[in-house]
Amino acid sequence: MAEGAIDLRGLNKPEAYEEAAGAIDRLLEGINDPVAAMATISSVVHYGFGYLWTGFYRRVSPTLLRVGPYQGTVGCLEIEIGRGVCGVAAAERRTVVVPDVAQFPGHITCDPRSRSEIVVPVFDEARNVIAVLDIDCARLNAFTEEDQQGLERIVARFARGA
Ligand code: SME
Repeated sequence: MAEGAIDLRGLNKPEAYEEAAGAIDRLLEGINDPVAAMATISSVVHYGFGYLWTGFYRRVSPTLLRVGPYQGTVGCLEIEIGRGVCGVAAAERRTVVVPDVAQFPGHITCDPRSRSEIVVPVFDEARNVIAVLDIDCARLNAFTEEDQQGLERIVARFARGA
């Protein structure tokens, strides 16, 4: 079952996300556990693409996100909904792509090496936001619409109750 680190960097983005989604499905087959899913997604995406920080903030109250499974240096523990990139994505229920974090008002710096960021809301079956997937990259402009589509597809498993 162990696949080791899957390097997706030689592939174009649609192929890379196809590979990532397939690996995540295989690894999580038969396991219906959101913490296991968040941990596995974080690891596959983080090492596959070589990011700086990849992980989840979970919605623990109507107004608060708290850190969940992640890969990277120590992240902020809690973020108010509406604050920072994560809080905006949760409040507005949409993916937020930040090409340059220095230009995003209210960006919360956890790792000063971060230059660009994408945050994808995670919905449950009832379309409640239960978490966000946050990815930080050391390069400017790392994330495109292909990343948005690929990542939204990966987290769609939570809306299927998986
Ligand atoms: N930059 C995020 C905070 C979380 S860390 O990057 C891990 C934000 O502005 O919401």
